[in-house]
Amino acid sequence: MVDTHSTNSLKIIAIDGPAGSGKSTVARALSEILGLSVLDTGAMYRSVALVVLESGTPLEDFKECARIANEIEINLDHGARLGSRDIEKEIRGPEVTTAVSKVAAIPEVRVALVARQRQWALDHGGGIVEGRDIGTVVFPNATLKVFLTARDSERARRRQSDEVSAQRSIAVDEVAQEIARRDHLDSTRAVSPLVADPDALSIDTSDNSVNEVVAEILRHYSAKGEQ
Ligand code: DC
Repeated sequence: MVDTHSTNSLKIIAIDGPAGSGKSTVARALSEILGLSVLDTGAMYRSVALVVLESGTPLEDFKECARIANEIEINLDHGARLGSRDIEKEIRGPEVTTAVSKVAAIPEVRVALVARQRQWALDHGGGIVEGRDIGTVVFPNATLKVFLTARDSERARRRQSDEVSAQRSIAVDEVAQEIARRDHLDSTRAVSPLVADPDALSIDTSDNSVNEVVAEILRHYSAKGEQ
């Protein structure tokens, strides 16, 4: 079992925040500048949710959900893959999006995926890790912790534009409702709820360009003696 101590000496930037706050965009931009790998932990929870749904496992069957989380072969190095199967499109689809917060609230599933996330950091010599509990639970000693937020209307606009890019048509009001439902489930669950770590650099990305957000993060990263 990989514990937090074994990852303490790694360079890790933890990026947490709700859906549509800009985590993935900012993580990718930082990765290009710093040459660090990126782990999208939301894609891990989505991959588990996909297999849970496809196997017909009831979301109440915690034991079977945990078995799936422990055993499935998730590869996120070039888009999401399950073994050799490309699942990038399916994990972003409406069925998985509806189920994922319930799967992510299962404590046994979180234990399994947190261990995999720490192992990923060891295997990659650190990196940029984005999610909901990265600075609070997964890497409490991360080099830098960032918490991104944005206005609800802006987050819904961004997610709707992702949906349009994926050729799914959905009204912005419906996206806003779905985000509010997930925010509620993610922030009120008993285990590892979405919450800003007191040490995190908090940035509202609503009215800032990606470059401005990245520049602010890099300033704080350099101030910690990193480059
Ligand atoms: O970032 P995303 O929308 O792809 O995340 C999908 C879901 O996974 C989200 O509703 C909450 C959950 N999640 C989590 O509980 N912990 C993480 N570290 C990452 C995601």
